[in-house]
Amino acid sequence: MKDKAVPDEIQEILATTKQIDQVLDKMARRISADYSGRDLLLIGILKGAFIFLADLARRLTIPHSVDFMSLSSYGATATASGEVRIIMDLRTFIRDKHVIIVEDIVDTGYTLQYLQHLLEARRPASLRSCVLLSKPDRRLVNVKIDYLGFEIPDQWVVGYGLDYADRFRTLPYIAALRPQVYAGG
Ligand code: IMP
Repeated sequence: MKDKAVPDEIQEILATTKQIDQVLDKMARRISADYSGRDLLLIGILKGAFIFLADLARRLTIPHSVDFMSLSSYGATATASGEVRIIMDLRTFIRDKHVIIVEDIVDTGYTLQYLQHLLEARRPASLRSCVLLSKPDRRLVNVKIDYLGFEIPDQWVVGYGLDYADRFRTLPYIAALRPQVYAGG
């Protein structure tokens, strides 16, 4: 699976470009069928979901609009406090709209839980979540994922929008980083 283009820090490719394409085709078909005849708003969570959202949105066969939010989470890092902050809010008013949160990865679940509570309070007509990757072994709070791409083990993953210290985001596949890279050794 490894070739010259794969950085040394990568341990293993978990999903190839082709596998991602297939999963997105399926997801987009389901979403297009589920939301046919409804006004759909996709909310991409920056920065991690920007590639996922762009590829998913272009596959939808129904009209939809797109907006973004940016959050900062401390939950997945040193403190595990679950504290989440809004860095950039939506431009759109979501009241009475059919909304799907588009998130790169659910780890502890704190970020998605926070978002679901925050957005529910704004009274959308409906609220669902579409998540590319989930690490079930890391979950600390229960969250509902309506559309899921891949379940993965407890490893730090990069590529296809996901980063480690702002690196590796534009790799065209999803890959596990060597543990020594994020363990600092
Ligand atoms: P949670 O709040 O613990 O579920 O974490 C969600 C956020 O942590 C994601 O939106 C990512 O930004 C980040 N994150 C968690 N695990 C990974 C990973 O393996 N690679 C890249 N980012 C991650």
